[in-house]
Amino acid sequence: MNDKLDWIDDELSTLADAGLLRQLNVCIGATHSTELQLDGKTYINFASNDYLGLAKEIANGFRERPIPDQAWGSGASPLVTGRGEAHQQLESTLAVFKGSEAALSFSTGYAANVGAITAVAGEGDIILSDARNHASIIDGCRLSKAKVEIYRHNDVDHLVELCKQATDYRRKLIVTDALFSMDGDIAPLSLIAEVARQYDAMLMVDEAHATGVYGATGRGMAQELGCEEGIHISVGTLSKALGSMGGFVSGQRSLIDLLVNKARTYIYSTAMPAACALAGIRAIDLLQSESQRRKQLFDNVDYITSRLVTAGLISQKKFTQIVPVLIGTPEATVAKSQALLNAGFYIPAIRPPTVPEGESLLRISLSSAHTVDQMEKLVAVLSQ
Ligand SMILES: Cc1ncc(COP(=O)(O)O)c(C=O)c1O
Repeated sequence: MNDKLDWIDDELSTLADAGLLRQLNVCIGATHSTELQLDGKTYINFASNDYLGLAKEIANGFRERPIPDQAWGSGASPLVTGRGEAHQQLESTLAVFKGSEAALSFSTGYAANVGAITAVAGEGDIILSDARNHASIIDGCRLSKAKVEIYRHNDVDHLVELCKQATDYRRKLIVTDALFSMDGDIAPLSLIAEVARQYDAMLMVDEAHATGVYGATGRGMAQELGCEEGIHISVGTLSKALGSMGGFVSGQRSLIDLLVNKARTYIYSTAMPAACALAGIRAIDLLQSESQRRKQLFDNVDYITSRLVTAGLISQKKFTQIVPVLIGTPEATVAKSQALLNAGFYIPAIRPPTVPEGESLLRISLSSAHTVDQMEKLVAVLSQ
């Protein structure tokens, strides 16, 4: 045995001592979309991003209408042989759904963010990025070789200040999550779009958690807030409310043509399987025909957040389906998460580096399929 990797044991012990060690689970979907099985036991699942319960619906749909007989893996990059009719159909469905000239599908939302940022910003440019943006945006910024300035979370004044200072750059890119994945709060997109207009910046918005949930037709938070016109690059994913797998970028035709030529996560990675593309198309179809799912989700948000306020667990009612309950230290959060597990609820502890030091939390993720009974039981256990 060679000792070259002995340092890894030390690294893992350091993580464990700080309450930051991650371990893998095997989560098995149960018959009901809000339940999962772990080590043979069934838990109520408040951790999934399948906000509308579409993952199960899509699986049922495939049982009734099997996917056309074709190879499972797409076999190559989209630029080689990986992009087939299903991908093309998905992209035109996405463009119609988003009301954009064109759209491009990536293997994941992570790849879409990294690919888009590195394609539109490079040396000589500046990126202004919200302090709480998702890791895939952070990684895209780091890889881009552009100068990166971080503005305080949702602080438009700070963004303006940084824009004023950013005079010596070829191009500016402002980038923000629409709905922040751990805090569950919303970016002031209309104000940010106005700043982008005033300071001649490109604006990229990651709608990962808002896609399918917000806006009159489910396009996302920019539609909800009425500022789609001001957004130049919109990123989304099929992997959350749309119940499938795969990221996408929508925008004007020339942007999509640029991504095909410059987005390295698109060019140098195998295209998603056609089945995922077909699942995405079905999800968008279901979104349009089953709008009661969104209404039910908002009723659930309203219900549980009122109950959590009454129980003193959060300070005010929330507007989104991601409800963080702040605990503080990683150790206390892990203990609380374990206590919830013992009581039959699956809500993993969210710890640094996903959230800042001292802000470890339980992230309650709601689904339209959660029942009042499940939510009541959760509030009761959390209050203990
Ligand atoms: C805000 C945000 N953007 C992008 C992603 C990446 O999406 P995907 O899971 O499809 O790679 C995530 C997922 O965790 C996310 O929360």
